Amino acid sequence: MMKISVMGTGNMGKALVKQLSIFGDHSVLWGSRDPLEAQQLVTQLQLSNVIAGTYEAAQQADIIIPAFHASVLKEWAAAHQDQLKGKIIVDISNPFNSDFSGFTTAWGESSAEQLQALLPESTVIGAFKNTFFKVVDEPNFQGRVSDVLVTGNDDHAVQQFMEYVKPLPFRFLHAGKLDNNRTIERFTLLELELALRYNTYPYISLQLFGIKEPIAVN
Ligand SMILES: NC(=O)c1ccc[n+]([C@@H]2O[C@H](COP(=O)([O-])OP(=O)(O)OC[C@H]3O[C@@H](n4cnc5c(N)ncnc54)[C@H](OP(=O)(O)O)[C@@H]3O)[C@@H](O)[C@H]2O)c1
Repeated sequence: MMKISVMGTGNMGKALVKQLSIFGDHSVLWGSRDPLEAQQLVTQLQLSNVIAGTYEAAQQADIIIPAFHASVLKEWAAAHQDQLKGKIIVDISNPFNSDFSGFTTAWGESSAEQLQALLPESTVIGAFKNTFFKVVDEPNFQGRVSDVLVTGNDDHAVQQFMEYVKPLPFRFLHAGKLDNNRTIERFTLLELELALRYNTYPYISLQLFGIKEPIAVN
């Protein structure tokens, strides 16, 4: 059975581990620069099936979700190309600039594609980019769950990931190739503006109308 890990105990890391712990079928490795603090969070949040440890330990998983800011993510990837060979790396990053007024990527570029270029022998999957951490933490909104767009150039890996996370309270949609993240990542900044305008920040996500079944994947 494939092992999954989440790296980072920030907003997204914490919320993703919580959902994987509650709804996932398998144990989760949770890596942190401070494994003791991660262990304290496991106790405090009463998470079961979560093993806190170092980043090195979390990197042993088959599916790795690095919940890092885009710049940290790139540094990490560049430094661990060999260890990450053959693994599925789930990229959740939105490459906003420091004052959230724009992006560190140019038009026609995405963080997900940059990550794949840094890790040519790993398989990068994009996911959770449009779902703000508060929604990942509390996914049910008036009886509905949000859509999570899953992208990747390797259909088999996309399927494997979607199968793995199927029990989680989100509707996972296969959203095509990694280059769709040029749109997906930029849409997140628009969501931020909408959340601020309508006073829901940091609670906002995506739900598309009209798709009855998330079964047709090609
Ligand atoms: N926040 C959202 O609503 C949201 C939504 C969708 C996508 N995202 C994306 O998710 C990623 C994480 O966002 P976040 O809001 O969870 O960030 P965050 O709260 O700042 O957490 C980032 C985590 O990265 C880890 N880390 C490792 N090396 C680091 C370093 N050198 N400096 C700082 N932190 C380091 C830290 O965990 P340890 O201390 O445990 O090592 C830290 O808690 C970003 O790429 C963001 O674009 C965020």
